[in-house]
Amino acid sequence: MLALEEHPEHKDCAMPALSRIAKTLLPKRVKRFVLLHILGGRRLKDHIRLRGSRIFLERDLMPWVATRHARVLFVGTGPYTYQIENLFRRSGEHYTTIDPERSAATWGARNHIVGSIAEIGRHRPNGHFDCIVLNGVFGFGIDQFEDQRATVKVLHDALVPGGTLLVGWNTNLTPDLDELDLFKPYFTKAEGLPWPHRTLFPLPETHVYDFYTRRED
Ligand SMILES: C[S@@+](CC[C@H](N)C(=O)[O-])C[C@H]1O[C@@H](n2cnc3c(N)ncnc32)[C@H](O)[C@@H]1O
Repeated sequence: MLALEEHPEHKDCAMPALSRIAKTLLPKRVKRFVLLHILGGRRLKDHIRLRGSRIFLERDLMPWVATRHARVLFVGTGPYTYQIENLFRRSGEHYTTIDPERSAATWGARNHIVGSIAEIGRHRPNGHFDCIVLNGVFGFGIDQFEDQRATVKVLHDALVPGGTLLVGWNTNLTPDLDELDLFKPYFTKAEGLPWPHRTLFPLPETHVYDFYTRRED
């Protein structure tokens, strides 16, 4: 996520460069190819995927999630997220992505929702997901404290009791919401995972992963 902060122009990725007609008509895999290999998205993808926090997400965290959880919601998509769906081939019908940006659907899963996480209750029943990954969304769209508080409640409602929540955030973009007790009413700190409740990376990375378990009602 540090990369995006250093290069804010990357936030919108290369998708707007494709015409509206191309966006509508081209199959997703062709659009991905054009964006990555012709319009330069590959540079952004490679740049981000070299970060220690990203390597951890792709090589450790998401494979672990995929072996333990079938109904997974991944919030926010980009040119560096689409390959994660491959880990869920076995349970492909249940791996879901969501992003309010229409252009981000190109990087979304077969089950992709164009919408805000705030509206997930309109698309899936309460308690539907075993695991939700909210990585790089606080500070990259959900920025106000009260919106973050409301999102934590939404995540609680969308998860099954005992379900797992992973929150990836940046210390230079977001206050420590755990310290501010935002999660406490709805989640406990996850135990028994291969990693501590909080996983940090050496500077200059500011990325943090926090793991929670949804409280029983
Ligand atoms: C920095 S990117 C992170 C993408 C991805 N989660 C990852 O781990 O790489 C932030 C993404 O969050 C999306 N986003 C912002 N606000 C959102 C919201 N309210 N609901 C869902 N996604 C949101 C943005 O559109 C953008 O695609």
